[in-house]
Order: sequence, then structure tokens, then C-alpha cells
Amino acid sequence: THCILIGAPVDSGQKRAGCLMGPAAYRVAGLAQTLVALGHGVEDRGDVSPAPRDPVPHANPAVHHLAETIGWTEALSEAGSDAMANGFPIFMGGDHSLSLGSVAGVARHAVRVGRPLFVLWLDAHTDFHTPETTQSGNLHGTPVAYIAGRLGFDDFPPFPAPVPPANICMFGIRSVDEAEQSALMPEEVEINDMRVLDERGIGAPLREFLARVEAVNGLLHVSLDVDFLDPTIAPAVGTTVPGGTTFREAHLVMELLHESGLVTSLDLVELNPFLDDRGRTARLMVDLVGSLMGRKVFDRPTRSF
Ligand code: ARG
Ligand code: MN
Ligand code: MN
Ligand code: MN
Repeated sequence: THCILIGAPVDSGQKRAGCLMGPAAYRVAGLAQTLVALGHGVEDRGDVSPAPRDPVPHANPAVHHLAETIGWTEALSEAGSDAMANGFPIFMGGDHSLSLGSVAGVARHAVRVGRPLFVLWLDAHTDFHTPETTQSGNLHGTPVAYIAGRLGFDDFPPFPAPVPPANICMFGIRSVDEAEQSALMPEEVEINDMRVLDERGIGAPLREFLARVEAVNGLLHVSLDVDFLDPTIAPAVGTTVPGGTTFREAHLVMELLHESGLVTSLDLVELNPFLDDRGRTARLMVDLVGSLMGRKVFDRPTRSF
């Protein structure tokens, strides 16, 4: 695979500074070297840097950094659409508001090639607010609503070909705000919250989703939020929620994704290196990418399940 690294040092989608150091931390933790060792080609396109713009006011006074976020959305949509035409983009964040742009770019490519787009959201949160419903005003809580074509994003470029809610699947969910709950209730977004994972394990529901993607030759974008993981193994994140995914569950997800051969783009988001413990979260994220891109514990001649 030709991997295209896109640095997205986005920090404007929330209020705790540090995510802007994410791309540098992934480079220091050896993301490119890990991919090369697995036999992939790597092209690091450096960090995206949108032009500064004038503030944009919003009716919801909590909303902050709206203009900056719109700038990132446009720039990353452009970078993502270009990269999709040439390889496998890996967006190195940056907070989760970067997915407003990364997924928009991927969606433009999906239109170009005439294939349906699916999104796998690995996160403690549903990120289904609009700028109108968010109480924190943190726009990292909004990308899924934008991707699904919810109203309330008038200040943003219209999302190119919204993703049908039934094509969006979430794992790891354990923090949902009231406004998100009521907006998601009538939608067909597949929400595998921690309760589902406790009952069923993580493999079975993931295989079912992957079968749906495969059945229609879909493109699959994976958005991996650090807080998908339990904070005891991944402390470098501003929005820790206890009771997250374990080390083995997370690797199993990545191994199944690799075996499916379906993933076509990836976001790594919410890493705040300022909060890390000797780089362990950055290294874990890089190791998970390793599993996603083909690293195996033991390489069996036949499938192990
Ligand atoms: N729902 C909360 C909010 O909107 C938390 C969002 C956390 N999002 C994230 N990408 N970590 O403020
Ligand atoms: Mn700022
Ligand atoms: Mn998130
Ligand atoms: Mn989250």
C-alpha cells in the first residue's frame, strides 16, 4: 500500500492545548518506519496549514474557533481528496474536528469513483452535535453530524454526498450528551456502545459491519479517537472516559480490519502529547496502525478463526 501521511495539527476543536503536537509525536514514535517495515510505501506530505481568516460569529455563544475550524475543513478536504486519488491517506491529528475535513475529502473521492462510503467511528463519544446543539462549544464534538448531512452547518462548505446514517458504525461509545441521544434516536447509525461490547464482544459486531461494506464494494474510512481506548493504557487525551477498550480488543479490531482488506483511509485523532507518559500513548497508536496495516502476532498459513 502507498501510505500518504497528512499532518493535521488541529487544536481549535476543543480548549485544552496540545493536540497540535500530535503529528510530531507520531513521527517521533516511528509511524513511517513502522509502515516501511511492513512493506508499505510512505509519502509524508508534511503538515497542512490553512490560511488565517476573519472570525465568523455564531448564534450559539459557546461556539469557539469557528472560522479556524472552517479553514481546516476546507484545507483537509482538499488534501484528503488529492491523497485518495494516489494512495491510502493517514491523517495525523490533531483533535477530532479534523474529521470534518478529512471525511469530506474522502467523500469527494467516493463520488468521483462512484462507490458508497462507510465510516467506522472508534470513540468514547458519538460526536453528533451540530454547532447549534453543542453546549461545550467544542467543535470536535460535531463531525459525525456533518458527515451524516445533519442541518446546522450553514457556515461550512456543504458536505459532499452525505454518508447515509446506516453506513456509519460506532464502537467504544460510553459518553453521549442528551442532544446527541435524541438526534441519534431516529437515525440508523449503528451504535456499539460498551454495553453491546460487554455482551457480544468486539469481533462479532465488527465482522457484521465489514460484511455490509464488502457486499456493496464500499470504501471504508476509519476514525480512531485516542479515547476509544481505556485511559489506563492511553492517558494522552483531554477527554478521558473510564471503561474503554482494552489493549487486546483494540488490536483485534485492527487485525480484523486488516484481514478484511476494506479500509481505504484513516484518522488518528485527539492525541495530546503534552499529557502523555513517556510517549506510551503515541507508541500504542503507532502499534495499532501496525496491526491495521498487517502486523501479526504469528503469521499462520491459514486464517486463525
Ligand atoms: N460530547 C462532548 C462535547 O460535545 C464531548 C465531545 C468529545 N469529542 C471528542 N472528539 N473527543 O463537548
Ligand atoms: Mn486558538
Ligand atoms: Mn471523537
Ligand atoms: Mn472522543
